[in-house]
Amino acid sequence: MVFSLISTPIQTFQFKKLFSGMRFFCSMILVFVLFSCKKDNEIVPVDDWGFKKPSYFPEPHYTFENNAQTKLRFSLGRDLFYDSILSLDNSISCASCHAQTHGFSDHNVAFSAGVNGTLGVRNSPALSNLAWYPTFMWDGGIVNIETFSVGPITNPLEMHESILNVVGKLNANSAYRSKFKLAYDVDSITDQKMLQALAQYMAMLISDDSKYDKFKKGTYTFTADENAGYFLFQAKCASCHTEPLFTDFTYRNNGIDATFTDLGRGMITQNAADNGKFKVPSLRNVQLTYPYMHDGRYFTLSQVLDHYATGIQSSSTLDPSLASGIPLTADEKLKIIAFLRTLTDYTFMANPDLSEPIH
Ligand code: HEC
Ligand code: HEC
Repeated sequence: MVFSLISTPIQTFQFKKLFSGMRFFCSMILVFVLFSCKKDNEIVPVDDWGFKKPSYFPEPHYTFENNAQTKLRFSLGRDLFYDSILSLDNSISCASCHAQTHGFSDHNVAFSAGVNGTLGVRNSPALSNLAWYPTFMWDGGIVNIETFSVGPITNPLEMHESILNVVGKLNANSAYRSKFKLAYDVDSITDQKMLQALAQYMAMLISDDSKYDKFKKGTYTFTADENAGYFLFQAKCASCHTEPLFTDFTYRNNGIDATFTDLGRGMITQNAADNGKFKVPSLRNVQLTYPYMHDGRYFTLSQVLDHYATGIQSSSTLDPSLASGIPLTADEKLKIIAFLRTLTDYTFMANPDLSEPIH
């Protein structure tokens, strides 16, 4: 194309065309150079979609086995997550207690209101990176992401609905029937397909673009305070809140009570040695998921740090590593908070793929 231009007889025209031809030619070379330098995790094609494990994350627990990931299934799961059809009086959706803008937690309230305004007994946790979770709930009472949603749907303090009823309501809805047909090739919606669709959405709640993640990917440099906080965190907190998920998924008593109104893990195992132990929560997006702890007793991160520094309550199941608290100066607390704020992932909390669908 460029060569044929050179043979054009009209000189001025030829120059102009030659010039734009060369610009085109150069930009093609640039595109060629960019693509030939492409490594696996660089330039991502626009339509590239699906579950991706960040390189510094461990292997996920959930692998979509027998529930192969597709965009249709995911978007069906998203419809369900945001639809109050899952609750008894069609008033409450999963998103009512798990708001994307606050890391999928119910921010600002210790206990969430379920159907008829009935309050729950534990704080709605933030949701992220659920595909890596071996167990769910503060006490680990649910172990499978594909059956998980039976819990909130049937809990009288939450959606207070029966699975049979929900499936009936979905089958009576022609839009859902055709979506399930397209996604799972079923003529009649089953509880299993409904739960699997929800799992498709839940597993895609991947938070991997906070400042911390950018630091791990080498695209962000911590400020002096963040960096000092990171070192303090590694020394004093990471034994339980282990990177990069910020939980090691164990159950521990972190000393918020000397006697327990909520037995936590002990209620599941029926073993007194587990009383007062709760699953170590992830700290991703923690800046926006207040209030904190299983009963939402602390509203600020500085209250949480004051607890670890000077508020530890002794009991027979207290984690041994916390027996003398975690000594922290006022300055160290501020630095740890500066680091905790680097776990805020605005990309995740504003990701339109995860937001309420507009129909
Ligand atoms: C009325 C508020 C409410 C509704 C509605 C609700 N949740 Fe929750 N969710 C909670 C509370 C409270 C907990 C913690 C319960 C516990 O540990 O005993 C929780 C826990 C979870 C967890 C476990 C997180 C972890 O850290 O282990 C997931 C996942 C979750 N909910 C997803 C959902 C989905 C999906 C739906 C809809 C099908 C839903 N929730 C509906 C309040 C709610
Ligand atoms: C021995 C294990 C352990 C250590 C060490 C530890 N934590 Fe925790 N942390 C927990 C457990 C368990 C909970 C949940 C307790 C509950 O809700 O009853 C928790 C809860 C939290 C919460 C509340 C999160 C939420 O979503 O409600 C924050 C914030 C927190 N820890 C920060 C820290 C910081 C900062 C440090 C270091 C100074 C630290 N933790 C050290 C075990 C630990």
